[in-house]
Amino acid sequence: MANATARTIGPVILLGPPGAGKGTQSKRIAEHYHIPQISTGDLLREHVSRGTDLGCLVKATMARGELVPDDLLYGIVAGRLKQPDCARGYVLDGFPRTAGQAGWLDAFLEKQFFDKSEKWTPVVIRLDVDYTQLLLRVTGRRSCPTCGRIYNVHFHPPRVNESCDVDSSRLIQREDDREEVIRPRLYAYEAQTRPVAEYYAARGRLVPVNADRSMDEVSAQIFGIIDGHAAVQVESGTAKSE
Ligand code: AP5
Repeated sequence: MANATARTIGPVILLGPPGAGKGTQSKRIAEHYHIPQISTGDLLREHVSRGTDLGCLVKATMARGELVPDDLLYGIVAGRLKQPDCARGYVLDGFPRTAGQAGWLDAFLEKQFFDKSEKWTPVVIRLDVDYTQLLLRVTGRRSCPTCGRIYNVHFHPPRVNESCDVDSSRLIQREDDREEVIRPRLYAYEAQTRPVAEYYAARGRLVPVNADRSMDEVSAQIFGIIDGHAAVQVESGTAKSE
């Protein structure tokens, strides 16, 4: 098999409730395969911190732990997926999150197929984690505002209290990781994102992963799934091996 930095990986979709480890594992996938991590949460938070029109529109919704309306996502996601660094693939962290978004993504990929004559079928991985563990993961999460590295005061603390191991920036807690916002976020997942898993399961594309294990064990299983998927795509002639 061609090495991970040259072959086509295609879209990798990570599904899972808040705190399941989508951001953590996306960063590892991005590093391993040299493809970009596209987190709609990060993109939206960046708009909020820059005070753009979109940021002003979504700020209150995000602070309440509710999902942003679908039509506000499509422009930023389409713009990002058309960037040259997505040519071999990308990992989607937090998108699609409603059945509408999943249908939109399929139509987007179908259109790309006509433009590039290369059909990409996403590999869809759902990270499953026990509810009590999710609460500890979300309430304990801290992140570096400079490099984006994610820590956890319970499971993966920084070497020096509240400082990033890489650049020593003071770690921050996300605005929506407050206890009163976590419940609405979990509710939004159950009500609006579970149907996305059903959408992909009905098409035979959903791969559940027990993410209640160490980060390394979860990564190893995910890499195996992505490698297997990429190999099948090459065999069936839908993606290129270079
Ligand atoms: P988003 O930023 O996507 O947040 P989320 O889905 O709630 O997910 P999280 O970032 O909380 O968790 P994660 O699964 O990435 O876990 P992590 O790796 O950090 O969305 C935020 C908001 O933006 C939404 O509420 C909504 O308003 C809006 N939004 C975004 N996308 C949208 C869309 N498509 N449509 C509509 N609205 C949208 O890990 C959590 C913690 O656990 C960390 O501390 C980590 O160190 C630790 N950890 C991870 N793995 C392990 C492990 N194996 N063992 C022990 N600890 C672990």
